[in-house]
Amino acid sequence: MNERTLSIIKPDGVQSGLVGEVIKRFEKAGFKIVAMKMVHLSKEQANEFYAAHKGRSYFEGLTDFMSSGPSVVVALEGQNIVSKYREMMGATDPVQAAEGTIRKAYATDGRQNVVHGSDSRETAAFEIGYFFSAFELVGP
Ligand code: TYD
Ligand code: MG
Repeated sequence: MNERTLSIIKPDGVQSGLVGEVIKRFEKAGFKIVAMKMVHLSKEQANEFYAAHKGRSYFEGLTDFMSSGPSVVVALEGQNIVSKYREMMGATDPVQAAEGTIRKAYATDGRQNVVHGSDSRETAAFEIGYFFSAFELVGP
């Protein structure tokens, strides 16, 4: 079934010149890009976006990092895109990420891990709505 997910090319990915590489992987995999833009999250926005992680030991470091520079946010659409894109990203910690994944190839550690991806359809709906209005998502 067709669904959507949110990708973020995080500040380390943008800083390292990996925007093109990540987008190329989307195109090669046949993921449809339905919206895309560059944003520099404030600390407050990073706190809000990652609110589900509040109270975790890594929360401060995560939101400091996510507000440290510009990111590229991309809404993707396709069959089973939530899980397909998570497979393409690889595990949160690159040490555990499978060969051929984005994080295995490019992540520095379990925080500076190049990309974000929604973990469910429900999360995706919130996350896409956080960055894009309905008219910014291209239609069929
Ligand atoms: P999480 O949702 O568990 O991972 P994923 O990005 O694979 O969905 O965590 C969100 C982000 O929080 C993760 O990408 C990086 C950061 N983080 C840490 O910095 N340290 C940690 O131990 C964990 C679990 C996450
Ligand atoms: Mg997650």
